[in-house]
Amino acid sequence: MSIWVYPGSFDPITLGHENIIERGARLCDTLYVAVLDNPNKSPLFSTDEKIELIKKCTSHIPNVVVECFNGLLVDYVKDINANVILRGIRNVGDYEYEQNMSVLNKKLNENADTVFICADPEFRCISSSSVKEIAMLGGDFSGLVNENIFNEINNQITRRK
Ligand code: COA
Repeated sequence: MSIWVYPGSFDPITLGHENIIERGARLCDTLYVAVLDNPNKSPLFSTDEKIELIKKCTSHIPNVVVECFNGLLVDYVKDINANVILRGIRNVGDYEYEQNMSVLNKKLNENADTVFICADPEFRCISSSSVKEIAMLGGDFSGLVNENIFNEINNQITRRK
């Protein structure tokens, strides 16, 4: 039984994240999409809201479970008996950062191996921050997020303005 974890902030989930989730889910039995519940950050969406948004974007993938975690990722990995951490790579910068994280995670838990999936080219320019910035400034971000959550992001941005 292969259980993989795709961790992140997902503030909010983008089409780039979805691309990694869809491809990762094909490679394992169960893919946990794990939202970091970090009280020190001031995100646009609460953890519960992020989870709902992710569920709306991934309901078509039967082997995806969406949860939150706090504390060390490797402890969460152990708790759910996962054997792989999944991360997406968009560019060289991501690679350098992710390589360090994967080495540290492996040091903390020798069973926590990281698998990298290269983002498909059309998604390499997307980040959650760029979605938020474009939305905040009234630009069209419809090509960057799932159409099922477009209105919710717009409404949240309007409330926060
Ligand atoms: N498509 C679109 N965007 C992507 C992406 C992709 N394929 N891959 C990364 N991103 C973007 C995200 O949108 C996000 O953008 P933003 O900075 O504009 O918000 C950014 O890249 C990084 O986000 P994310 O992938 O969510 O990672 P993160 O750095 O926020 O979180 C954790 C990384 C949660 C895995 C890490 O912080 C963690 O494990 N924390 C727990 C504590 C711990 O164990 N620490 C020790 C680690 S060694």
